[in-house]
Amino acid sequence: MEKIIIKGGKPLCGKVKIGGAKNAALPLISSSILLDGGCEFCNVPQLRDVETICKLLELMGAEFELKQHNLKIDASNINKTFAPYDLVKTMRASILVLGPLLAKYKKARVSLPGGCAIGERPVNLHIEALRKLGALIEVKNGYIEAKAKKLRGREIYFDIPTVTGTENVVMAATLADGVTTILNAAQEPEVVDLANFLNSCGAKIEGAGTENIVVSGVSSLKANKVHNIIFDRVEAGTYMVLACATKGDVEIINAPYSHLHAVVEKLEGVGASINVKENGLRVKMKGKIKHTDIKTMPYPGFPTDMQAQFTSLLSIADGNSVIAETIFEKRFSHVPELVRMGANIRVSGNHTIIEGVDHLNGAPITAADLRAAASLIIAGLMARGETTMFGVHHLDRGYENLEQKISALSGSIRREKSE
Ligand code: EPZ
Repeated sequence: MEKIIIKGGKPLCGKVKIGGAKNAALPLISSSILLDGGCEFCNVPQLRDVETICKLLELMGAEFELKQHNLKIDASNINKTFAPYDLVKTMRASILVLGPLLAKYKKARVSLPGGCAIGERPVNLHIEALRKLGALIEVKNGYIEAKAKKLRGREIYFDIPTVTGTENVVMAATLADGVTTILNAAQEPEVVDLANFLNSCGAKIEGAGTENIVVSGVSSLKANKVHNIIFDRVEAGTYMVLACATKGDVEIINAPYSHLHAVVEKLEGVGASINVKENGLRVKMKGKIKHTDIKTMPYPGFPTDMQAQFTSLLSIADGNSVIAETIFEKRFSHVPELVRMGANIRVSGNHTIIEGVDHLNGAPITAADLRAAASLIIAGLMARGETTMFGVHHLDRGYENLEQKISALSGSIRREKSE
């Protein structure tokens, strides 16, 4: 087991470089299943989730070479269309192999991902949509058993604009017969990145990034394409909040400004000054954090993946703030840990009511999920005294070299083995 020790109270200053987007890398790597050969991804983040999806594809018969931020993968000779529970339970995004396996190999046996600390995380919308494309799907003994002689395009309406649900259907539809129209699709930049890559391989996808995506099926998808993964808007947003929370001055290189409008708007609203630079953003904060209200929404609304980080920031605001979490039913595991540090936060239904306090105090705390871990690191760096954070493995799923990047901003943070 490991723990992270933080000494808070110092403003973070300097430059930090953002990496490739985890939530773009995972569907992109899964989409390699669709191709008639190998492909190459650049700007791949070095994260546990990326290793997990590569291991999962290797289990199925794919070959890959992951070196630094470059991944060469050939998943064109899959001989096992099976995603086992012990792997899927460590990363829910494994569900992203379902659509490509069905489209290319006509069958798949994928473990139900199950819930996690932020919610029940059902995949009913994925299953219903793939059934509409002609897949025969049974759910039994904790597994999704799916097969399809040939997927046929048709209109699919998503009750909720599910991100990985949209990605699964887009991938399945690329090799289906006919046209698939997805209504109320997710509009996240990661969906656009996936569509751009697949179109470079010969797919016919239009409307990615809007609520209506149209996919005209093709017979096959070309190999040997090279794709640069977009930068991670959530990693960038996390460092922007960190700069603000520690009253610092940080240049965030490669921050994808066009994907961060909601976050920029909210940070300016609490008093940060944000300058767009030619290759990123500069975030400066002086004086008291102003209180504000936030409502998480599907993209381009305020991202749920930034909610926990803002909860930490607003815990020392000059008044009361209310955050409505409309995407996940229990994404509040960070709240009791912040309260242990002296925050005054109440959870009521899907809202948190935050009464700003003068400061937080360091304490031993435990992270229960990836973005909660990020929010607790922010709290430790804002707090007076020393904080010890457990649950470090959650952090490694989505943040590359976090301690090194924070230390380079003169933050006092180190990782130790815990007894
Ligand atoms: C993606 O998860 C992201 N993960 C999440 O990031 C992100 O928080 C989420 O989208 C929302 O933006 C990846 O892209 C790998 P959803 P996903 O399907 O696709 C309900 C992080 O921290 N729903 O858009 O699983 C669901 O319960 C992670 O990087 C159904 O009811 O999220 C939720 O309430 C966390 N049935 C809502 O839709 C379904 O079949 C949105 O979920 C699917 C979803």
